[in-house]
This record gives sequence, structure tokens and C-alpha cells, in this order.
Amino acid sequence: MLTAVRTENQSSDWPALPHASLFVIGLGLMGASLAAAARARNICREVTGWDADQAVVSQALALGHIDRGIDSLSAGVQQADVLVLAVPVLALADIIGQLGTLDSAGKIITDLGSCKEILETAARQDGGFPLAGFVPGHPLAGSEKSGCTAASAALYEGCRVILSPLPETAPPARALVLSLWEKLGAVQVLEMPAVNHDQVLAFTSHLPHVLAFCMMLALDKDATPDEVWCCGAGALDDLTRVAASSPVMWHDILVSNREAVLAAVDSFSREFDFFRRAIAAGDSQALLRLMGRASDLRRHLSKPSDSKTFNQCVSRTRGTHSTMVHYKASPAGALAGKIRVPGDKSISHRALILGALAEGESCIDGLLESEDVYSTLHALRNLGVSITEPDQGSVKVDGLGAGGLKPPCAPLDMGNAGTAMRLLIGVLAAQGFDATLTGDASLSSRPMGRVVDPLRQMGAHIETAARDLPPVRIQGGHSLQGIDYTLPIPSAQVKSCLLLAGLQARGRTRIMEPVRSRNHTELMLASFGYNPERADSVLEVGEHVRLKATRISIPSDLSSAAFFLVAATIAPGSELVIEGVGVNPSRTGVLDILQLMGADIVLENTRQMGCEPVADLRVRATRLKGIKIPERLVPLAIDELPVLCIAAACAEGETVLTGAAELRVKESDRLDAMGSGLRMLGVSVEMRQDGLRIQGEPGRHVFSGGTVDSRGDHRIAMAFAVASLRARDRLRILNCACVATSFPGFVELACSTGFDLDTTDDSNDCE
Ligand code: S3P
Repeated sequence: MLTAVRTENQSSDWPALPHASLFVIGLGLMGASLAAAARARNICREVTGWDADQAVVSQALALGHIDRGIDSLSAGVQQADVLVLAVPVLALADIIGQLGTLDSAGKIITDLGSCKEILETAARQDGGFPLAGFVPGHPLAGSEKSGCTAASAALYEGCRVILSPLPETAPPARALVLSLWEKLGAVQVLEMPAVNHDQVLAFTSHLPHVLAFCMMLALDKDATPDEVWCCGAGALDDLTRVAASSPVMWHDILVSNREAVLAAVDSFSREFDFFRRAIAAGDSQALLRLMGRASDLRRHLSKPSDSKTFNQCVSRTRGTHSTMVHYKASPAGALAGKIRVPGDKSISHRALILGALAEGESCIDGLLESEDVYSTLHALRNLGVSITEPDQGSVKVDGLGAGGLKPPCAPLDMGNAGTAMRLLIGVLAAQGFDATLTGDASLSSRPMGRVVDPLRQMGAHIETAARDLPPVRIQGGHSLQGIDYTLPIPSAQVKSCLLLAGLQARGRTRIMEPVRSRNHTELMLASFGYNPERADSVLEVGEHVRLKATRISIPSDLSSAAFFLVAATIAPGSELVIEGVGVNPSRTGVLDILQLMGADIVLENTRQMGCEPVADLRVRATRLKGIKIPERLVPLAIDELPVLCIAAACAEGETVLTGAAELRVKESDRLDAMGSGLRMLGVSVEMRQDGLRIQGEPGRHVFSGGTVDSRGDHRIAMAFAVASLRARDRLRILNCACVATSFPGFVELACSTGFDLDTTDDSNDCE
């Protein structure tokens, strides 16, 4: 994830800025500007500078950019505390090699380069390079001018900076570089791993430069300089300004970031080709659609300073959470208020996927803007589908119709999203092109055999890693044949995957569902103009179905509301209303189970939202009693079982959960995560292969304070946050960045109802 970084106090033997000597290696535009700014702002004791060309050193000195010129790297390194590498990207590896042979231990080293992976590799290759002091950095600033004479102390004022610290980077080194940039005038310092930095910059900076260079070359063939001068309007100026940048510098960047730049260029070429074909065919509709989408995207481009979208977009390329977020959850009083939780995750995935497969433009409201849903959105965009940037849950999907998807130019990274991966495998199995789906560490350990096996029976060619785990490689060009299939486990993901494949197969696909699971796909297909047949437990879809674009309104997610239902039930004196929550009977197991335990939950204002029923849920605190959870309710409450375990711990008597072995293969082994976490907090729990036996304790303080690990599983993290309401002392819940996969804004919303919940990036911090 791309994260904004704050300065923290770091006491250590590392240098502190006002007393430090700064050594700038490379005095071109970027290095000399940094030196000049450091001097002008009195940021450090002394600014020295070196350049491979000693004439440039004299120039920098004469222009007042540095206090002192240095004629050898080793002398500069010896005298300085902080080194700034400001040489062209391809020269960085050589400088890093040289630093490894000099005594650079204890120095803080940063750089200004536009490519980060090459740098990290060079630093690691060199045994002597001090990784603890290394904080790779990239100011998003520059100018089409180059050289020491064009340097300006104002170059970095108001700029954003991306830091890509290594796992080995010492916190004081990171803190010093962060504070250096703040003092230099940066408005925002963000963090991002090197590999993601390079992928994102390939699109946002390297590609635009390539295009500007190409544009000038194309102009050169078709227009004389006079014509360009006289007839060029603002658009030409806007598009080509950066073509005057340093060719050497850009050569280095394109060579260093080859793979990512190629992916960006390929993606551009595909869009360009759409335009070309539409212009050639005189296809006004296609042109208007393409430009409408582009202009929408441009208008909705959010500014990085306030940008949830930007962060999510960037985090999408990462797949893992680099920055730790932990919760500090303190006991609190009664909860109160009227709240709305974000859109339903299951329905959001389906709305995007069916919208992409339909013909025409679908409008979606209430989309969940979370990391998991962004996994689906980005995957579909990579398959050639135009999707506007979600704006407060509203998004337009320009469906390509059956068979309209395009080959992706890179593996589709599904992040943490199991539903997205399993549903898309069903879609992709029937395409004419190859595709690979990958995921983060959690998703890479989740079984895909449950969807791959029946798809193979339908004729799909799919490879997985050992034990049916991702990555999943789908070989295109194999047409599918409908099958009769009995679901061995109640799973809406498997059912939906096969329905999506069946829509594109020859013959009919019949799915026997001995135990019903959530039916959002079936309901939504009807909204897209196609009604799967259902007779008892058999669901049937026909061949080569065409879907028609539609409008979908997505209700709030009952799975997210469940945390507040349990919270308000167990926090004495609470009363909460959760508005507009989806209450599809294939999802309401949590309501049934809580009601069996004695909870006071009333459905008010029940109404229909498109094909889904919704209601406002009023919940008041009550004393709960332990129950044997009926196994028939388990699939209908599968995602809510972690927080129901918290309710069980607060109930009088014992609660027994059985028939829930599926919980072992969710984002974490949820039986183990909940069982172990509850024990850590003093609850008596018996762990079984397919469930838990929890001894409830109806007193005020059910849970001791202490530390539990969410294991990177959003529902475990939020479940233990709820437990804090009945804890004696503060809870520290580790690894909670995952909550962004399903419930952005959870902490803020929880606090608005009365939770005492805060985040920290320091796992030792429980003050
Ligand atoms: C989901 C189905 C369930 C659920 C998951 C979402 C869906 O998984 O746990 O969070 O959207 O289809 P299974 O189908 O594996 O039970």
C-alpha cells in the first residue's frame, strides 16, 4: 500500500539534521537544486558536492549551490553524515558499488532516482553497502531543463516524494530522510516498495515522456516548424512540454525500468488501436464511448493529497501490505447512533463482472470502494473493459459483451480477493486468450481445486501451483461444454464461477446445490436480462448467453454491519440503527443466530433495492445466552462466524459451533485465529476440526487486555476490535491493514458510534 508517512521522534546515534553534513553526489539539475535548497533553508551544518565533471563542481560553488566542492568520492563520504545520490539512474549502480568499498557504515544514504528496483538490486549485490542507512527516495519534481546552471532552490517546494525503504532500513535513517524532505518543502512524503514504485511510475511518468518524444517525432514528419509554431494550440504544448527533457536521463530510465515501461506502452498501444479502428471504421458510437470514458476518467482523477482512489490504485499493484497497521482498542461505554456501512462486497464484485460481460453501459451505485473490489475493477480494466473511477460508490462499466474481453498484458493480481479470483477463473476459462491470476500470500494459500476441477470437466485448460494453489494459469482457446455438477461444499464462489463459465459454454450447465449458498449471481443475472432456471436445488444456465447493460444499486454489506450488530448487543446500554443493509435470506444467518442467542435486532423499513431486499437494522444491547449453532445456518453466516464467536464469549453458558471446517480455508484459518485469540484473552475455548466450543462469561469484563494477531484477516481484526467493548484492559490487535480489503473507514465509523479505537504502525505501542 502507498502510505503517507509522518515524522516520529527517533532517538539514536544516527546523525540529526541540523548538525549533519550533507554530501550531494552528482550536481546536475536535481542534485544542485537539492543542495541549493538545503543551504537556503539552513537544513544542515554544511552542504558539500561532488560531480564526475569537476568543472560542474566549480560551477555549483560559484553559483552558491554548495558550501564546499569535493574532488573525490572517498573524501566526501568520510566527512559527511548524509549522502544524497543524484547521478543518472544508470550511474547509480556504479556509485553504490564504490560506496560499498568506502567506509560508509553509519552514514545515511538516499537518492533522487526515478527507478528504484535497479537500485535496490545494486545495493544488495554489494556486500559492503550499508543497507541499514539506505532510504531510496524519489521526489516527483523536475524540469525539462537540465544541468547545474538550471538548478533552483525552489524545485522541491510543494512536491511529493516517494520513499522506498528496504526491510533492513533502520527507522532513524528513514525518519531523517523524511524530515529532510519535509524541511526541503515537500508537501507529502509517501512510502511504496521499489517494485511497485517502478510499475506505477512507468504509467504515470515514463509513459507520458515516451509519448511526448513520439509526438514530436510524428510532428517533425508532418508539419514544418513554422506550421507547428503558428498552428500549435494549448493541447500541443500540454502534451509535448516534457519532450525537451534530457535524452540521456530518459534513456537511462527507460532502460532501467524496461519491463514496466513495456507493459505501459503495450497498454497504451491497445487503447490507441481502439481509437485507430474506430476512426478508420467511422464508428462514431465507439469514438464517443471511448472519449466519454476518457473524459470522465480525467474529470474524476482524484488529487493524491486526498486520494483514497490513488492509494487504492497504487496498492493494487502491490498485493501485500508493506506498512503495518495495528489497532489499539480500549474498553468503551455504550454505543449509539444511526450509521451506514459500505456497500456489499459480494454484490460489488458481481456488478463489475456482469457489467463487463454485458452489452452496453451499466451504471452501478453503492459500490464498495475497498481493496478487494479494486482487485476486480483493475483486473477487468486489464482485460480491456472501460470502467470509470468510482466516485462515492458510483461507477460506469462499458461492457464488452460476450467474447469481447481482451488479452491482459500482464498477470492479473487479485490481491487478497478470493471471490474475485474464483469468479474470474470462471469467466476466463472460456476466453480465446491465455491469462494468469495471482494473489497475495493469503490468497496464494487458498485452494482453487474447487473451481478448477469442474472447469476442467467442462473442457478448460488450467494449471495451478502444487496443491491446486494460485497462481492459476488459464490457457485460452478451449471452448467449454456444459456439465451437470453437484457442489461438494456449499460455496457461492464455486456456484458463481460455474454459472459464469456456463453462460459461455456449449449446452446447458446444471448445478446441484444440496445446501443453498448466497444467490447474488442468480439474482443479478436476472437484472442483466437473463433468468437462470431454478428447480428445487438445481440451477441451470443455457449456452452463449447475452447480457444487457443495466443499473445496479448495491445495498450496505450485512457482513460489515455484523460487527456493529454484535458490538451494540454486547456493549451495555447501546442502541444503534444501521441503515440500508442487504437482508437477502441467503445471507441472514447472522441475524438468525443472534436472535437465537436472545439478541434484540429489529428489521425496520424493509424494502427492495433492485433485486435485493434491504432493511434498517435497529439493535439494542441485551444479555445473550449460549446456543448450539444449527449447522444449516453456518453457510448463511459463513463470514460472520468470527464476530459471532465474540458474541458467544459474552453469552451465558456454552456456544457450540460445528460444521464450519470451511473457516479453515478463508483469508486465514479462522477457527484457529479465533480460538487462539480468544484463549489469549482469557476465554475458555475448545478447538475442534470443524468448529469451536466457547464457554461464555456474561460478566462486565469478558476479555482480559493483551495482544492478538489478526493474521492479516480483515474479519478477525474487526471481530477483536468488537471484543474490546467488554475487555478489562486495552487490546492490541496486530496486522490490521487488511481491513481495507472490505471495510474502508471502519475505525472512523466505529469511533463515531462510541468505540475507543486507534491505529498505530508500531507493534510495541500500546500507550
Ligand atoms: C462469497 C462467498 C463465500 C464467502 C465469501 C464471499 C461470494 O465464500 O465466504 O466471503 O461472494 O461468493 P464461499 O463461496 O467459499 O463459501
